[in-house]
Amino acid sequence: MAANATRTVRELAVEIPSATRIFEQLGIDYCCGGGKSLQEACAQAGISLDQVLRSLAQGEASAESAARELPDFEQASLKDLIDHILGKHHVYVRQELPRIQQLLAKVVAVHGSNHPELAVTQQLFAQVSAELTQHMMKEEMVLFPYIAELESSTNSGRRAPQPAFGTIKNPVRMMEMEHEEAGNALHQIASETSHYTPPEDACFSYKTLYSALKEFEADLHQHVHLENNILFPRSILLEEKAA
Ligand SMILES: [Fe+2]
Ligand SMILES: [Fe+2]
Repeated sequence: MAANATRTVRELAVEIPSATRIFEQLGIDYCCGGGKSLQEACAQAGISLDQVLRSLAQGEASAESAARELPDFEQASLKDLIDHILGKHHVYVRQELPRIQQLLAKVVAVHGSNHPELAVTQQLFAQVSAELTQHMMKEEMVLFPYIAELESSTNSGRRAPQPAFGTIKNPVRMMEMEHEEAGNALHQIASETSHYTPPEDACFSYKTLYSALKEFEADLHQHVHLENNILFPRSILLEEKAA
């Protein structure tokens, strides 16, 4: 279906393969703020709706011919989607958290007195790091195994598992809140760092830090998009069917 102003950002992000890349470039929130209409989201980001619609139309046309960057997660099994999230995003977050914290420590030590925003960034990132570590552990130990089991029991006609958390909507709500907190902290980091623009006097580590932070935020958006907009709604639907 074609993109138009009244469709939600989430619908477009799921349907048009290049939409998340376009939204990322234009600063449209497609993971936590995905429930808004495209019109509202453009107004909030202060960009022209026409420009976004044009980019999406081009994206739709080229998606037909270009090889798709990602498998079709609307059709893939939930198990495959979970494996993709773990293998691509959870592994990446675990690699980057210590690397970025080391870079921050180094850059704060050298440039912190001239650039007070660095200490603020360091504090915000430490908070993101602690929260995401806990968050991913909950997904890996509780929520994702339940979803995989729910899918396999449904497929083989077995009884659905009876989780201690009642309905899947409870942990999903909690995960979505935690996504929003991490997203907000990274948003604050983006504004502290003038959208990751290194100052004139920045050394190599400083520049490396800013590009690592920028990439980290973009990766988190993709990660949260797959969970909030595809994995969680599909799992809730499956649970309702199994009941
Ligand atoms: Fe995750
Ligand atoms: Fe998550």
